[in-house]
Amino acid sequence: MSAQPDTQRSRDSEKQAAARAAVQLVESGNIVGLGSGSTATFAIQFLADRVRTGLKIVGIPTSQATKQLAEQLGIPLTTLDENPVIDIDIDGADEIDPRLNLIKGGGGAMLREKVIASASKRFVVVAESTKLVAHLGRFPLPVEVISFAEALVQRRIEALGAQVTLRKHKDGSIYVTDEGHHILDCNFGQIADPAALNAKLHEIPGVVEHGLFIGLAETAFVGKDGSVVQVKR
Ligand code: A5P
Repeated sequence: MSAQPDTQRSRDSEKQAAARAAVQLVESGNIVGLGSGSTATFAIQFLADRVRTGLKIVGIPTSQATKQLAEQLGIPLTTLDENPVIDIDIDGADEIDPRLNLIKGGGGAMLREKVIASASKRFVVVAESTKLVAHLGRFPLPVEVISFAEALVQRRIEALGAQVTLRKHKDGSIYVTDEGHHILDCNFGQIADPAALNAKLHEIPGVVEHGLFIGLAETAFVGKDGSVVQVKR
């Protein structure tokens, strides 16, 4: 057997361990933000197990894919309009720094993910150990843009020092988010000051949102070497 499947298996077991730990924080009566991506999917599956054995919750999904998954698994859903205050949001991340600043959006859902995280009393991150970094920026920062302004926004982000790539599917078609926008994946290298970059990106008209999550996460559960490490701010 090759090393690759073993690596994948151990990453999956880290994701599962982190997801299982985070789901224990959910209590009956909670409004729960349902994240997107492979680690959040494990959390949603564990949550569904608890719902089947009597946990009373309603979920708010962060993407169409998560909505479909939650429906298939029988998790009752609500909307942000009906429930603008969320008790706990559980979601993955692409990078986590020691201050719990994050890069998210590898799966393209960071706009709704950030809205849900910002509306949540507790935002809990779940991840495998490779997501822990000393400094954000090895993972290209996803920036969601209106297609009308895409070329102009790309030039302005390049002027900030990034290498910018329009996100596409494997077949070459342009990736379109759940909100109908495009994504520019922006490689800044090491991001020395995430808050300053956040401000600069939001000064560019045509930028809808980006994947820097600063000061939002309360804690992260990270699977590592057969156990779970909890990182707190
Ligand atoms: C989805 O848009 C992302 O923000 C995910 O949370 C992030 O990409 C982590 O995904 P995995 O859990 O699949 O690594």
